[in-house]
Amino acid sequence: MTVNNKNTILVTGGTGYIGSHTVVALHERGYRVVIADNLSNSHRFMLDRIAEITGQAHPFYAIDLCDKKALKALFEQEQDIVASIHFAAFKAVGESVEKPLTYYRNNLVSLMNLLEVQQQFGVAKLVFSSSCTVYGEPDTLPVTEDSPIKPASSPYGNTKQMGEEIIADFTNVSGIKAIALRYFNPVGAHHSALIGEYPNSVPNNLVPFITQTAIGKQQELKIFGSDYQTPDGTCIRDYIHVVDVAAAHIAALDRLMNHTDVQAFEVYNIGTGTGYSVLEMVKAFEKVSGKTLPYRLTNRRQGDIEKVYADTSHSNKVLHWKAQKSLEEMMHSAWLWEQKLNSQTHTSK
Ligand code: UD1
Repeated sequence: MTVNNKNTILVTGGTGYIGSHTVVALHERGYRVVIADNLSNSHRFMLDRIAEITGQAHPFYAIDLCDKKALKALFEQEQDIVASIHFAAFKAVGESVEKPLTYYRNNLVSLMNLLEVQQQFGVAKLVFSSSCTVYGEPDTLPVTEDSPIKPASSPYGNTKQMGEEIIADFTNVSGIKAIALRYFNPVGAHHSALIGEYPNSVPNNLVPFITQTAIGKQQELKIFGSDYQTPDGTCIRDYIHVVDVAAAHIAALDRLMNHTDVQAFEVYNIGTGTGYSVLEMVKAFEKVSGKTLPYRLTNRRQGDIEKVYADTSHSNKVLHWKAQKSLEEMMHSAWLWEQKLNSQTHTSK
């Protein structure tokens, strides 16, 4: 597909985990991509990796979206932006409890700046990274988009709820149309193993902890809780391949750009619809890697939800999108990525 500048999409947080996979997907769909990222929780070399996959470099702005002047300068420079996909945000649940103001300031000020500057430059479309965390501990499963929003259990979760509310209020009056994608648990990596999840320190999330344990960076996996009301006692989540998550953004953009019946603000669940327990995840990893994973059953982690998985019928129907990749593909790609990461030294440029 030929790239025309009028197809330019701004991806904030484009060097991060989901952002980088989405940049690749956008490029493959013929979009021109402009990346903004302050590199606070990602690495500049991801740009080279993305370029290696897509065969070209993408314009990059090392800016903080809390700096409205810098954001304006980006839009002045890139007059052809037609929509933005807003990933840039802090996302560590535990850290958000320790540093609430840092999270509220970063995640909400950046969003408000983006909305304001977009309106100023007449960029009327936005896709927002939300999370299944907005549902808290659901009363019924699977959760639909109409399930109640529960009080957030962390400032991080609250920034997602408040982010959605800010967008809902602003799209009412601004002429901007937005779609929020509520991701369940994105895992895995691009099949090239050039991009993937790259935790800055000890991982909080399950799959990076599993792969780091298997490679010897962590001694053992601690499974947080084995006395939940689930078949094997461990928590259940809806894990989804990050490449499927990236594809959901293309579907959301397509809806915003090409459909006239779009509401000012729409939300969609982005999951597979299937829940797996922590022990099932361990078994799946062992199967694809051929390794035995050292693990120990320990106490529950504070704030964890017992089980959550998505009803995806709304996103399947309206976005014409459906997760394609299996649990094996999720684990296989995550493991390849971990191995490749450890087999080479790279310089953070
Ligand atoms: C959390 C957030 C979610 C956020 C996501 C990515 C909540 C309720 N959830 O998801 O919003 O988008 O992180 O940052 O705020 N586990 C272990 N041992 C480990 C790590 C995890 O047993 O070392 C278990 C957890 O108890 C949980 C499952 O694995 O049952 C998944 O945990 P994790 O990957 O951290 O994701 P969530 O907590 O579901």
